[in-house]
Amino acid sequence: MIDRIVNANASDEEPQEVELEATLRPRDFKNYIGQERLKQNIQLAITAAKKRGEPLDHVLLHGPPGLGKTTMASVIAHEMGAQIRITSGPAIERAGDLASLLTNLENGDILFIDEIHRLNRNVEEVLYSAMEDFQLDIMIGKGPSARSLRLDLPKFTIIGATTRTGSLAAPLRDRFGMIHRLDFYTPEEIEQILMRAAHILNVAIDNVAAQTLAKRARLTPRIANRLLKRVRDYADVNGDGMINETTSRQALKLLDIDELGLDSADRSLLLAIMDNYDGGPVGLDTLAALTAEERGTIEEFYEPYLMQIGLLERTPKGRKLTPKAYRHLGRTSSQDSQAALL
Ligand SMILES: Nc1ncnc2c1ncn2[C@@H]1O[C@H](COP(=O)(O)OP(=O)(O)O)[C@@H](O)[C@H]1O
Ligand SMILES: [Mg+2]
Repeated sequence: MIDRIVNANASDEEPQEVELEATLRPRDFKNYIGQERLKQNIQLAITAAKKRGEPLDHVLLHGPPGLGKTTMASVIAHEMGAQIRITSGPAIERAGDLASLLTNLENGDILFIDEIHRLNRNVEEVLYSAMEDFQLDIMIGKGPSARSLRLDLPKFTIIGATTRTGSLAAPLRDRFGMIHRLDFYTPEEIEQILMRAAHILNVAIDNVAAQTLAKRARLTPRIANRLLKRVRDYADVNGDGMINETTSRQALKLLDIDELGLDSADRSLLLAIMDNYDGGPVGLDTLAALTAEERGTIEEFYEPYLMQIGLLERTPKGRKLTPKAYRHLGRTSSQDSQAALL
């Protein structure tokens, strides 16, 4: 899973990749391509907050990995002229960790909590009152002499990011003044993101090649940037360094990424449903067992894109392939062949 090039998760293991993301990450709204509705809403809220001289309301960003949640958090901080501190759900293990993070903030600071759905219960409960009243209730001591102490906190903003809103507790969701979903990008937007990245990385790429890559980047900026880098390697070794139609097609072929951006793992998932369940519906657990992937991986990573491009449907009875999935894999569905017999 981790070495799939089309995996939209950030890989913490590779320092090179972390560096690449840092150089390519847009700093302000002007350079943040696409997500127009999100930008308009946030910009309005920022202007209003600044006008009132108040910190921004808490923001929850959700959507599949690689679409620009972390980037948006830093853009917001930049536009607010605020300091941002970055942490994540699993990193805040105890209520005490959260208390020390919050008491170290200053008025107007932003605390970005990535993977906020992975906060543990105790921490979450402390966070509720902190977000609502900017107060922290902490217990001091143990046993009969224990007492609770109430601390005033600076006026801060929480920006939470999650790939699964479904698993966020309702009381936590309710504490966010703004909840926004990030959508997949259009191929045109991805093309713009590619051109911008190529410019920053000083890579020569022509328009046709940018279009070819854009179609196969799963409508996801992180994957677009990653493909660009791999295709550049190919062009450097097998050509004159220029990314054109030929080098990009050859490189993508070598990476085993097809015209829709699917790799062999996606195709085996589709084939598993086709061959074992006649196209579905099939339950998520069965699918997980068939493909030896975790439920969460299938839900968060495979499905959103496959549904976005219309190869897969979620029905009450389970996951189902569409006729387009059959066409893409060059097969006929049993429905099609029945229809042909009539
Ligand atoms: N709107 C955008 N415009 C340009 N590049 C973007 C945009 N959104 C994301 N990126 C690029 O994609 C990479 C991944 O984005 P990131 O914010 O880390 O995604 P997420 O946090 O949703 O997983 C960033 O490093 C950035 O280079
Ligand atoms: Mg992120």
